[in-house]
Order: sequence, then structure tokens, then C-alpha cells
Amino acid sequence: MSQTPQQPWSQRFETALHPTIVLFNASIGFDINLIEYDLTGSQAHAQMLAKTGIISTEEGEALVNGLEQIRQEYREGKFTPGVEFEDVHFAVERRLTDLVGDTGKKLHTARSRNDQVATDVRLYLRDQIKQIQTLVREFQTALVTKADQYVDALIPGYTHLQRAQPISLAHHLLAYFEMCQRDWERLGDVYKRTNICPLGSGALAGTPHPIDRALSAKLLNFDSVGRNSLDGVSDRDFAIEFLTASSLIMAHLSRLSEEIILWSSQEFGFVSLSDKVSTGSSIMPQKKNPDVPELVRGKTGRVFGHLQALLTLIKGLPLAYNKDMQEDKEAIFDAVITTKSCLQAMTIMIAEGIEFKVPRLAAAVAEDFSNATDVADYLAAKNVPFREAYNLVGKLVKTCTSERILLKDLSLERWQEFHPLFGEDIYAAIAPQQVVAVRNSYGGTGFEQVRQQVAAAKEILKAEV
Ligand code: ARG
Repeated sequence: MSQTPQQPWSQRFETALHPTIVLFNASIGFDINLIEYDLTGSQAHAQMLAKTGIISTEEGEALVNGLEQIRQEYREGKFTPGVEFEDVHFAVERRLTDLVGDTGKKLHTARSRNDQVATDVRLYLRDQIKQIQTLVREFQTALVTKADQYVDALIPGYTHLQRAQPISLAHHLLAYFEMCQRDWERLGDVYKRTNICPLGSGALAGTPHPIDRALSAKLLNFDSVGRNSLDGVSDRDFAIEFLTASSLIMAHLSRLSEEIILWSSQEFGFVSLSDKVSTGSSIMPQKKNPDVPELVRGKTGRVFGHLQALLTLIKGLPLAYNKDMQEDKEAIFDAVITTKSCLQAMTIMIAEGIEFKVPRLAAAVAEDFSNATDVADYLAAKNVPFREAYNLVGKLVKTCTSERILLKDLSLERWQEFHPLFGEDIYAAIAPQQVVAVRNSYGGTGFEQVRQQVAAAKEILKAEV
């Protein structure tokens, strides 16, 4: 391991940090992820220092240019600070001083790493929230595109994972569109509370220098300035809200994954997954495994875990900054990477990796009692009280089950033995296509409704980018 260089704070100490503690204390291994935001934040801070006369204009320019040079070095892979620099903030400050001389030491005037890191994380998340919103939109687009093709296709609808009523396949897909729409909106909401500038909070109490916090915030495109410096350095609510939003995204992707895994099984046979998104077994030659949805379902736990980690992290923290907070980063970064990769994988799967077995789906809804409610509704429409009709249909189903036939197999005479109001039109009324078509209540699965829902979903995608 390299020698520990003198830390900015080392003058106050008698001996150097224990080498193992250097490693233990360092965050550079992961907070290097924040470097672009750290540089941008520092450039804004330097400009503000110059504008307010805290440093000279020339000094401000030297700092901004030096920071830009570090950005280039980093992008070219030439700036790779080691663990001896502790964190990205110290590493940048050190390099800046190498590049621009003693002026570099002025950068940290009127600032602490506490407000610096809070600013960096907000800038990072702001970017990531926008990127994830775009990925959510792409996933929604894939769902609506599929839905549009399958308005007239039927699929069994379930409750308790028992056949309930047939529905339009598009209706099923659009349920996920709705979940994603809430995810998209929730991210927008998190964005609002992320986009508040803590820079200028100092270590915890502000600064005696005549800083202009509004200017720093403006230069960094923040919507506003945090009102309380203690809160500014100790607030991670925005990160927790982000993890909540990503946890819900993952929960939604995981539910769909679970359905796809079931649907692709031989038992259901509702879909087949293309070779682009399936893998084989190392021993069983016949296997084609739904790895993508399985991985998404599996990765969901990681993101939930990060949310728990952060909630637990802050629950016992006295104000203001505590080093515990360094632990927020890996959770946030991993949640970002995981959520993005799962959204991308699911988008590919829906857009080009899944084939719905429409004839098999149609056969499935024709082979069950999921039209039983419609028999009761048929009588209810003829003024038989619904509960009475319901009880009668219960008996009908029992009879059919014991004879191993379906409702549609009953002769008209037998229908009429159960109730004289049954007529020839009962057969049409219980045909799956009809059963779906008549559920034309707002938000229901009737084809007309679903067509309107597809149109509405397209409008949403058009309106908000
Ligand atoms: N690496 C630290 C973090 O991620 C930066 C802030 C350090 N502040 C301090 N007072 N030691 O939280």
C-alpha cells in the first residue's frame, strides 16, 4: 500500500493514521463516482468566491480552469487517486494544488466537506433521477406498444391465482403502465426535494465569509437554497425517498417478472421467451430458462435492502454530519445501477423478447368457469336479485364439475331446469369474447374501454418527456 500522504488535517495529529485504518476510513474507492459532480460543485463555489470578492477574479479563474483540467485527466483515465487520499474531495483538492499552486488551497474557503458531499450527492441523484425517468418512459412505451397489438387477445384474469374472469391481454399490460406512471411521477416528486442546494451550509453552522448562496445554487441549477445549515449537511431524506421510489420500481418489475416466469412455464404455456433473453441449462439439454425475469426478481431484494440500510443509518444520528453518512453512497450507487439495468432488461424483454401464445390463451379462457359471474349477471339483468342468481350459478358449476363439462356444454333444457329465464342467448352471453366485451365500465376490461386506455397511455407518453 502506498504511503499515507499528509492529510489536510494532519498538523493537529502526533502520529500518522494506522495503515489498516487508512483503508477503513477511505471512501475514494467508491466516491470517485461523484468526481464529475464534485468538480462542477467546486467550480461553482470558486466562481461564487470570486464574484463576492472572497478571492480575486484571477484566482477564481485559476481554480475553475484547474478543476476543468482535472476533469480532462479523469476522463482520459489519467487521474486515478489511490486510497491514501481518503476521499474524492481531498484527492481533487490535492491535485488542484499540484496544478495551480497555492491558489488551490483557497478553494475550500467558506466550505466544508460536509456541505460539499451533500451537494455532490444531490447533483448526482438529480442526474440519475432524470435518466431513470427516461428508462421508465421507454419501458412504458414497450408496454403500450404491446398492449396496442393485443387489445382483442384474451388472457385469464386471476384472483388468488385462481381463474377469475377473462380479460383483455392489453388491459393486463396496461396495469403495469399505470404502476410505471406512478413511478415516473414519484421520481419527479423526489427530484423536487433533491434539487435544493446545501452548499454554503459549511460544516454545520454556516460561515463568516460573505458568501452568496443563491449564486452558488443558481450556477448549479438548483431550484432553491436550503434554509437551515444543520439540516443542509445532515439531511439524506432525498436519498431515502429516491430509494423508496426505486424500491417501488423494482417491486413492479418483480411482479411482472413473476408473472412472466409463470407464464413461460410448461404448465401455463402463455408466452415463450425468445433466445435473445433466455439461457440454457448446463446439464438439461431441453431447458430454456427465464433468467432475465428471475434476475430482476432477485435483484429487487438488493434495492429494498439499500432502503432499509439508509433508514437505519440515519435513525440514531444526532445532528449534524456524522461519518456514518459516508455509508450512504454504496447503497445509492448500487440502487441506481440495479434499477437502471433492470428497467433496460425488462424493456428489451417486453419489446423484443416475449411472444404471447394467443391461441393457447384463447383456449385457456374457453376451458374454465371464468364466465360464471356472467351467468349470474345474465339473470340479474332479468331482474333476479344478484345474490339469488349467484347461488343458483354455484349449483350449476357444481353440477358441471361433477359431470366434467363446462357451462357452454349444457343444453338449453338443462339451463331452463335451473331457471326459466334462461334463453338461447345465454350461449352468446358466456362466450369469452363477449364476457370481456361487456365489461365496458370505466377502467374495465371491455375492448372499447381498453382501446381508450391505450389511447390515453399514448397521450401521456406524448405529453411528458
Ligand atoms: N467522505 C465523506 C463522506 O462521504 C466526506 C465528508 C467527510 N466529512 C467529515 N467531516 N469527515 O461522508
